[in-house]
Amino acid sequence: MMAKPKDRKKVDQLHHKLIELAICSRQINTSATDNSPLPKINTLLTHSTEDNRKTPRMKTFRFQLLHQWLIHNIKPCRVADIGGGKGLLTYLLRESGWDATVIDPENQALLLKHKDIITGKRAIIPFEANVPRIDGQFEPSMAENFDLLIGLHAHGCNIKIIDAATKYNTGFLLLPCCIIDEPLYPVRGISWVESLADYAIQKGHLIDPLRLNFKGQNIGFYSLGKEASVHS
Ligand SMILES: C[S@@+](CC[C@H](N)C(=O)[O-])C[C@H]1O[C@@H](n2cnc3c(N)ncnc32)[C@H](O)[C@@H]1O
Repeated sequence: MMAKPKDRKKVDQLHHKLIELAICSRQINTSATDNSPLPKINTLLTHSTEDNRKTPRMKTFRFQLLHQWLIHNIKPCRVADIGGGKGLLTYLLRESGWDATVIDPENQALLLKHKDIITGKRAIIPFEANVPRIDGQFEPSMAENFDLLIGLHAHGCNIKIIDAATKYNTGFLLLPCCIIDEPLYPVRGISWVESLADYAIQKGHLIDPLRLNFKGQNIGFYSLGKEASVHS
């Protein structure tokens, strides 16, 4: 399903703001003597923009799209799928050999099937399959044993994820949705994702924008921390 041109324009504008913020995070974090170009951001941005132009928007496959993005861009690492709900992202990452765990206070059963967006076919999840879960609210101290904290529409957790990543120098990836149960709110006229990116920059993170090909709240950003790394 293609987005309406008006919606697409808004998403494009937001994406561009995040690109500017990512560049700003580099300028702040790069020492005056380091004149190196920005190889990582260029590579990944080209990749992301190409994806969005070629493929129609897919409404319901955010877990599959994020899984594909992760396995193509980031080396396998220990992931906390914070606010991971039923655990489909964690399941897909584990199928790809990643060490992933859901952290969510609501223990929800794994789905019995999902759509494999590569083959276009329905994939059955075995009845006995399960994923590791921590059935509790995310607290920054939980971040210590993970390399990458993921918040996919994880309301109430975005600021905590950035704070945890700051404390433990952990990577993080945020695709924020609504502002519920957060300790901070954006000032008027500034979007939630933009204010989170600004918060992360103020905490010293070097961020990269992320745009996936699903409808609604598909713009976010990530930072690699000390252990998560991109494929060369
Ligand atoms: C909007 S749902 C998103 C679920 C899933 N990531 C998705 O994209 O469909 C938000 C999830 O965050 C969980 N959640 C709410 N507060 C949380 C907290 N403090 N720590 C961890 N998870 C939380 C909820 O139980 C819910 O599963």
